[in-house]
Amino acid sequence: MQLETTINGNKIVLDFAGGEFLAETLRRYGYLSVKEGCDTGSCGLCTVWLDGAPVLSCTTLTARMEDHEITTIEALNVEAEEFAQFLVAEGAEQCGFCAPGFTMTVLAMRRELKHPTVESINHYLAGNLCRCSGYKGQMRAIVKYMGVE
Ligand code: FES
Ligand code: FES
Repeated sequence: MQLETTINGNKIVLDFAGGEFLAETLRRYGYLSVKEGCDTGSCGLCTVWLDGAPVLSCTTLTARMEDHEITTIEALNVEAEEFAQFLVAEGAEQCGFCAPGFTMTVLAMRRELKHPTVESINHYLAGNLCRCSGYKGQMRAIVKYMGVE
């Protein structure tokens, strides 16, 4: 099957198999920042943006991507680097496997939440799991990054 869509600002014609999910398609096209963990919509590792909002690419059918705007972390290097510095400052950098999906969610959250609180941040991030930690260092970094008083 084929369709035209936009990835990181570039129009592209995608070839894909019927029933293929977006995570697999993106990786096949070289967007290797997109990780797959659970493949069941439970861990958030595969998060990308669809028309500016975070989605789980392991459960999003590629066939639904006609004329949409897909964004991966490859297009958000500057913002991702800025957030990474907050993680480092709190000693929260670990194996990094969850980082691309987690960062895509954090960057979307920063755009969306106008008056963030610890509670609203926790709620927003509930779908992004990290197998390395208890989230304490990450939360310290996120709270500072989001400018929560
Ligand atoms: S790999 Fe998509 S949510 Fe886990
Ligand atoms: S930093 Fe290792 S899985 Fe999150």
